[in-house]
This record gives sequence, structure tokens and C-alpha cells, in this order.
Amino acid sequence: MKKRCLVTGGAGFIGSHLIEQLLSDSNNDVWTIDDFSTGSKDNISHLLNNPKLHFHQGSILNESLLKELIDRCEVIYHLAAAVGVKYVMDNLIESMKINIEGTENVLEMASRDKKKVLITSSSEIYGKNENYPFKEESDRILGSTTKLRWSYSSSKAIDEFLALAYHKEKGLPIVITRLFNVAGPRQTGAYGMVIPRFVNQALKGEPITVYGDGSSTRSFIHVTDVVRNLISMMESKNTIGEIFNLGNPEAVTISNLAYAVKKLTESKSDIKYIPYTQIYDDSFEDLRYRVPDISKISKAVGFKPTKSLEDILKDVIKYYKNKEKCG
Ligand SMILES: NC(=O)c1ccc[n+]([C@@H]2O[C@H](COP(=O)([O-])OP(=O)(O)OC[C@H]3O[C@@H](n4cnc5c(N)ncnc54)[C@H](O)[C@@H]3O)[C@@H](O)[C@H]2O)c1
Repeated sequence: MKKRCLVTGGAGFIGSHLIEQLLSDSNNDVWTIDDFSTGSKDNISHLLNNPKLHFHQGSILNESLLKELIDRCEVIYHLAAAVGVKYVMDNLIESMKINIEGTENVLEMASRDKKKVLITSSSEIYGKNENYPFKEESDRILGSTTKLRWSYSSSKAIDEFLALAYHKEKGLPIVITRLFNVAGPRQTGAYGMVIPRFVNQALKGEPITVYGDGSSTRSFIHVTDVVRNLISMMESKNTIGEIFNLGNPEAVTISNLAYAVKKLTESKSDIKYIPYTQIYDDSFEDLRYRVPDISKISKAVGFKPTKSLEDILKDVIKYYKNKEKCG
């Protein structure tokens, strides 16, 4: 069936892969809005000639533009956000405005004609909870508001509350997904994301810099596994009004991740450990573990990660080697 989809943040890392996947189905027409704050036209340049893609440069805070696009579409994938703890800590006011006001704009406008909205939330929601793997109803354990890193987690929690409220009070069909460390080609290391940062350091022969002692663990999921399941969650009626973790439960320590990057790039780079206080301010708190329980999403849409950490690293290395070649 022909479908008109809006992707906010479509020039971003995940958004560009989502658009590509949506356009691979010739029934879809895709509209997208992006202000290039962290995304880039390069991410979608190979798609811009496709007559089924309608790109608009602008902000989700521009209500008239957003309304025009929502009016044209039947479903909304809401990805535009200030992303990542480091970026948010460097842009505090603007980030909260985009993540809270921007999301409410999307929900309010979508609610007029009850168009289904998929909200991309984050594993940051669970905060310092060490009772992992995290289930969707697990507690959120956060530090003081003086520790500014929690503003990202809190802004995403407000997004979730808003979406659930619009669902309950206005009958808006929503689905919320909490993404756990997505990685793959086109992710930039400029805002602190660890895999592209390590790969670029290794390829340049610079020290691979691990923040802290490297014993924290993360679980990474390939972006192609994510976008296929974002579409499944949008298409399934079982997902309305629900929250789903989306990630790969296999965890790796950051130290082992650095060694894996060094090995796969055949780099001579040293691995260097840097205290958090040199990167963030004294108030920074690390999250030691972030492992999803994926039983709910597996049951709802048959989700299963298909790509390993090694697949992810090989794809990212290939992407950056290619980028270097093309200058
Ligand atoms: N990458 C991850 O591991 C991860 C983890 C958890 C949650 N998420 C969520 O997934 C979504 C996509 O993240 P991503 O990793 O692709 O990051 P990204 O920074 O590449 O994508 C975000 C996009 O939104 C755009 N944007 C920002 N503010 C905007 C505004 N006001 N108006 C229009 N566009 C705007 C940016 O330019 C960028 O293209 C975000 O909502 C993020 O919070 C990502």
C-alpha cells in the first residue's frame, strides 16, 4: 500500500539509513526535515535525485514548516534531536528546547489527524540503574540536576511522558523505542560517539583514547538492524501506546572495543586512558552498564540482531577508509 512518511532528522546518521530503507519500497514517498545541526547533506546526497524523496532544510521548531510536512504525511518517524551526552552538555539550553519543545510540536500537530508517531528515545533513560538487563518498566535512577549529563536522559523522559499523554488523552497512536548505542557507517565521531572516534584515531595512527579505565561496558547494534525494526514497529498495530528497547544484548568493555578497533584496522596506535575529568567537568558520572532486555520487541515484531560487533566495526572502517580516499 502506498504510504507517505515524514522522517524528522533525516540527514542524520540513523535518519539517512531509515530514508534509504523506506525508499527501497517503491510504495513509499518520504518527506524529511533537517537543520544540519549535527546531520549533513552528504549523508543523503545519493538519494536527493530520487523523485520520491522531498527534502526540506529547516527546524522542527519552525511550526508552520513542520505543520505543512505533517499535513502531507500519514506517519511520522521522529528522530530530530540534540543527540548524545557530550553534544547536549556543550549546548544545554538549545538541546532541551529541541528535545522537549520540538517533540511536543510533532505530537501536537500529529494529534490533529491522529497520525502514528514513532518516538526515538534512549537507553540513557535508565540512568545509573545497575540492575541489568533493563526491561522497559525498570526503574530510572538518576543523579542530581547539578550533574548536567542527566539533562539528556531527562529530556528524553519528558518526550516519553508527552507521547504517552497524547496517546492517553488525545488518542494519538504512538510508539516509543529506546535505542541502545546504534553504530555503523555515517555516524560521526565529532560529538563523542565512541566507535567512529576510535576508528578515526586508529586510521590516522593517533592514540586511541579511552575515557576512564575502560572497564565500562556497552552493547552496540548495527544501524541496518535498527531501521528495519523502526519500520516494523511503525507498521505493526501491536505496538501502539507501547515502549520497546531496541539494542543488542551482547556487551563489550570499552577497553576491548579499543583493542578490537586496533586489530581490525591493523593500526600501530597506542591505547591511552584519559580521566573523565579531562574530557567533561568534575560533575560527570559514567554509566557502567547498558544492556537491553529485548524480549518485548522480539515478541511484538520478531526482532533479532543480525549483525555482530565485528560486522559493525568492519563497516565503519570501510566507510572511513573510503571517505579518506575521496578526500
Ligand atoms: N545513535 C544512537 O546510538 C542513539 C541512541 C539513543 C537514541 N538515539 C536517538 O535517535 C535519534 C537519531 O539519532 P542519530 O544518532 O541519528 O543522531 P544524529 O545527530 O545523526 O541525528 C539527529 C538529526 O536531527 C537533526 N536535527 C537536530 N535538531 C534539529 C531541529 N531542531 N530541526 C530539524 N532537525 C534537527 C540533526 O541535524 C541530525 O541530522 C535521536 O532522536 C537520538 O536521540 C540515538
